[in-house]
Amino acid sequence: MKVLIVGSGGREHALAWKAIHSESVTEVYVAPGNGGTSNEEGVTNVDIAAEDIDRLAIFAAEHRIDLTIIGPEVPLVRGITDKFESLNLNCFGPSREAAQLEGSKEFMKDFLCRHEIPTAVYQSFSDLGLAMKHLEGSTVPVVIKADGLAAGKGVTVAQSYSEAEKAIRECLEEKSFGEAGNKVVIEEFLEGEEASFIVLTDGKTVLPLASSQDHKTRDNQDQGPNTGGMGAYSPAPVVTAEIHERIMDQVIIPTIEGLAKEGINYCGFLYAGLMIDAEQNIKVLEFNCRFGDPETQPILMRLESDLVELCYQASKGELEQIELQWNPKVALGVVMAAGGYPDNYEKGHTIQGLPSETENLKVFHAGTQAQNNVIKTDGGRVLCVTALGKNTTEAQLNAYNCVEEINWKDCFYRTDIGYRAIERES
Ligand code: AMP
Ligand code: GLY
Repeated sequence: MKVLIVGSGGREHALAWKAIHSESVTEVYVAPGNGGTSNEEGVTNVDIAAEDIDRLAIFAAEHRIDLTIIGPEVPLVRGITDKFESLNLNCFGPSREAAQLEGSKEFMKDFLCRHEIPTAVYQSFSDLGLAMKHLEGSTVPVVIKADGLAAGKGVTVAQSYSEAEKAIRECLEEKSFGEAGNKVVIEEFLEGEEASFIVLTDGKTVLPLASSQDHKTRDNQDQGPNTGGMGAYSPAPVVTAEIHERIMDQVIIPTIEGLAKEGINYCGFLYAGLMIDAEQNIKVLEFNCRFGDPETQPILMRLESDLVELCYQASKGELEQIELQWNPKVALGVVMAAGGYPDNYEKGHTIQGLPSETENLKVFHAGTQAQNNVIKTDGGRVLCVTALGKNTTEAQLNAYNCVEEINWKDCFYRTDIGYRAIERES
């Protein structure tokens, strides 16, 4: 089987690495890929941007690609799956309509309400005056969200009215997020512990992947601005067997069935970002229409089942209800980022100290580029150093031992990835 992976991040490096180890796979292409994918044996980078849907379709047709797996949300929300399907090309990812679960927070929240799936109380606004009036009647902290895609920057957890007002003005008045900020969702602040729960589905059969937890903020102890994710680990102990069942019953199954009732078949990865409170109530924070980044890296490090086979079956609507096989170890990934991220940062610095891969250690690349035999930084999140261990404590130790050997100008990382799980272990 020939496989095309669309995207250029750590998630796509992990997908490509997993794909090339699949028995049925002969060749893997990544468009556009990164320095890590270009150095992976059996994997070839293709110089086409992830958003260039027309050229990706031409490439898939010309190279007789058997399966295309879409990594990021932007091409999905813009309808890459619909385009591929219209050309009889096999593609794993939700349709444009289904991808609205991530593409519009208002759509997602209204959908959850229609189907009585638990989520924070909210209201959405396109009018600045009405939004401000609503804010006056809210309590702080309060959460302000741009309706559309904003590359992880559209959410503000405002601790004060002035911060909330600023976030609303940024969307509706200053248009900082362009069209994505034409509407804002103002929502109740939820307390608890977050978990990422990702499933693979063809719209009928649903296979839950291992649970994981992501650290979204830049600084230790979950402080500082939101980022795309500074590290993740799997499994997440907050998702006990009982909570796993309830997430399936209260969130995942009602979502897939609710979409089907509205005439939308959801085929792809579905990512539920959840808040679990002290009383073990589960509420949906967000949906993503794709695999998580950096959650993919630790999750795929543990997955022993054949991912490509499963995606292929699902893309044909023939997914079978099986029990996925997992390495019982814990996997933990630490993101190494460019100084300044998530704001402005420099590119083009030479990365030193990259280790070779072992059974228990893999450095997934994100914002990197290979130039001759040198790897240079080329993005905000640069690497995700992912290690296995018998528990989170050991996985963390193994990951940071490697992180400390890697260096480039102004690189930084959080030093506490996995701290909640480690507190439980000690
Ligand atoms: P989202 O992109 O909607 O997942 O939001 C990004 C992050 O903001 C989440 O991972 C949470 O940490 C935080 N967040 C979003 N909505 C809420 C909420 N209602 N209450 C508390 N934190 C939230
Ligand atoms: N790690 C969060 C996300 O993929 O959106």
